[in-house]
Amino acid sequence: METTLSPKSPHNPKDLGNINPFRVMTVMHRAAELEAEGRKIVHMEVGEPDFNTAQPIIEAAKAALDAGLTHYTAAPGIDELRDCLVLHYRSRYGIEVARERILITPGASGGLSLLANLLISPGDGVLLSDPAYPCVRNFIQLMAANPQLVPVEMRDNFQPSLAQLDAVRDASTSGVWLASPSNPTGAIMSRDQLTEVCGWARQQGLHVLVDEIYHGLHYVEDLPSVLEVDDSAYVVNSFSKYFGMTGWRLGWIIVPTHAIEKANILAQNFYISASSIAQHAAVAGFSRDASEILEQRRQAFRERRDFLCAALQDIGLMIPDEVQGAFYVYADVSRFSSDSEKFCRDMLENHGIAITPGTDFGDHKARRFVRLAFTTSMADLELGVSRLREALS
Ligand SMILES: Cc1ncc(COP(=O)(O)O)c(C=O)c1O
Repeated sequence: METTLSPKSPHNPKDLGNINPFRVMTVMHRAAELEAEGRKIVHMEVGEPDFNTAQPIIEAAKAALDAGLTHYTAAPGIDELRDCLVLHYRSRYGIEVARERILITPGASGGLSLLANLLISPGDGVLLSDPAYPCVRNFIQLMAANPQLVPVEMRDNFQPSLAQLDAVRDASTSGVWLASPSNPTGAIMSRDQLTEVCGWARQQGLHVLVDEIYHGLHYVEDLPSVLEVDDSAYVVNSFSKYFGMTGWRLGWIIVPTHAIEKANILAQNFYISASSIAQHAAVAGFSRDASEILEQRRQAFRERRDFLCAALQDIGLMIPDEVQGAFYVYADVSRFSSDSEKFCRDMLENHGIAITPGTDFGDHKARRFVRLAFTTSMADLELGVSRLREALS
């Protein structure tokens, strides 16, 4: 017998407010239905590399399994992997990060939710760019805090200016959460911008968190970590994107020394430890063999980016002068449609191209923009572009 519960019933999950499912999931679901009917769909909606995890990482996982490394690890992760990251920050960014400041997490998602609990109190305001990765504003809302959206423009490389941050900040603001390179725009914060924002935040007594999950997937020379300019900033990163390990659920955070103890307490309580097998596998991600494969893949992403950006410009979509990182192009389709959701539906249903509407990433001009991911083969990208050209001609 089914019981009807009143909305106030203590048996009901709490009200999630305006936390919505991702529209990209609806796109993916509908694309799968169409494929089941025999249609060929070009997938440009997916936010993960199409490459399988590199073989050296897989071999390391097999060896870890055979060696019985199937138990909990220490909450902040295995020393071997944290030491790889110490070396990584030394060699890539020229900075010293003490091992104790690094905590291995279940994906960047686990890191973001841990840091939300560590840094945000009910009623706080947290400054975010609009558009941005949607989970971030949801994590903030789940803390009974308020995302304070700062609208950013393509002409400003989708970066907020200090004047804009200052205009949105109020007495409740406790921090600034940014991403570089950003999802959905691929925009990178320059060293000067990072320095400026961190200096301003320090003056205002705000914490700074930068999501650096797309580091490694950059197509410009300089990709600074926020830690190069401010040792007290919080960093989120992951093995999902550059290391191609989305399904392994492994990431890391870096916290300032004074926050280490509390971060460890939260890690112990939230998840005890990240996956042991995934951690042992990820150590191999820093080997020479794996690095060669990952760099080849970055080159493949760069070629796809070059092809896609040139084609989109030719078709008449407005896109940034340069997509600097990640694997997304955030394109203004307002010449062709005043509603990005309708546009994406039409592209999927009538032209077999799956892309994500801007409404997944915020409010600002969200009905004008769509996100196209180049996480599919060159052959599929070519097909997608020719379908798009035909649809919009
Ligand atoms: C900006 C950003 N942060 C965090 C995540 C979460 O990544 P994961 O939990 O797979 O490490 C994503 C995933 O797409 C992302 O785009």
